[in-house]
Amino acid sequence: MSLNEFGRHRRLRRTHGIRKMVRETHLHKEDLIYPIFVKEGSNIKNEIPSMPGVYQWSLDRLDGEVEEVVRLGIPSIIVFGIPAEKDDCGTSAYAKEGIVQRAIRQIKRNHPELTVIADTCLCQFTDHGHCGVIENGEVLNDETLELLVKTAVSQGEAGADIIAPSNMMDGFVAAIRHGLDEAGYHNIPIMSYAVKYASAFYGPFRDAAHSSPKFGDRKTYQMDPANRMEAMREAESDVMEGADFLIVKPALSYLDIIRDVKNNFTLPVVAYNVSGEYSMIKGAALNGWIDEKSVVLEKLVSMKRAGADLILTYFAKDVVKWLEEDN
Ligand code: PBG
Repeated sequence: MSLNEFGRHRRLRRTHGIRKMVRETHLHKEDLIYPIFVKEGSNIKNEIPSMPGVYQWSLDRLDGEVEEVVRLGIPSIIVFGIPAEKDDCGTSAYAKEGIVQRAIRQIKRNHPELTVIADTCLCQFTDHGHCGVIENGEVLNDETLELLVKTAVSQGEAGADIIAPSNMMDGFVAAIRHGLDEAGYHNIPIMSYAVKYASAFYGPFRDAAHSSPKFGDRKTYQMDPANRMEAMREAESDVMEGADFLIVKPALSYLDIIRDVKNNFTLPVVAYNVSGEYSMIKGAALNGWIDEKSVVLEKLVSMKRAGADLILTYFAKDVVKWLEEDN
């Protein structure tokens, strides 16, 4: 083989300028969705021990956090609520004066241009910590749908721009679509947690949202991490039922699934970079074992390369600052 018979791939890597010209994937602040935890009570700014840099906020202290998000140019947030009272059917999830409903009203009043997504689930609001109604130790599907619809409609009433149902009951998209339409909210899109695995990476979130199941686990409704074809069936159902966005969750161990969803469906794909993925990096970074900025940017760009159009991440604020530094 003579010398000019092999490819000179390094030509396109030689300078920063050329590398930028041939870069195939870009991360933009417009891709980001930032999660915010709101907690009933007053004067609360609690750092979540397993998620350094992430806080629970009471409504009287929330404005500064939201203003920072807006100032950084992050276009959208997702709101998770931690209620004062829980009961067996999660009444506080759909109360007019529920913590999420009040938070949405307050945020939209101050920042009408910020897109506010409501996470629609029951597990933070039920005393047993499951995502639905329980009978004889089992999570009932169709009975739960009614409560989810009430929750979604109450969030729409409060001014949510997008409803994001995360509880993995069968038929939740159809039920919520129908409920929203009936209540006059046919213009509110549904960002479905279409493909959600029963993952150990949700651990820190459950600390943050006080939503661990008191018995058993979520394996009868969330998916087995070993399954790939099943993810296509889940996504297909949600598309047929009227979803407007498809979430894959978690993100990092599921890049193949993100790519499959992207290749098989035409809706926008959202990668949920979950709490455990955040904590692993934070923990290592705080120990000085890895370089946080480089690792986070590499991992988010990988999610986009895998096919994500949007990324829901606890790193969103840092990412915007890092992207600006690099420009
Ligand atoms: C509620 C919900 C969970 C997460 C988002 N919505 C927890 C769960 O299903 O147990 C996890 C998010 C994260 O880990 O960052 N159903």
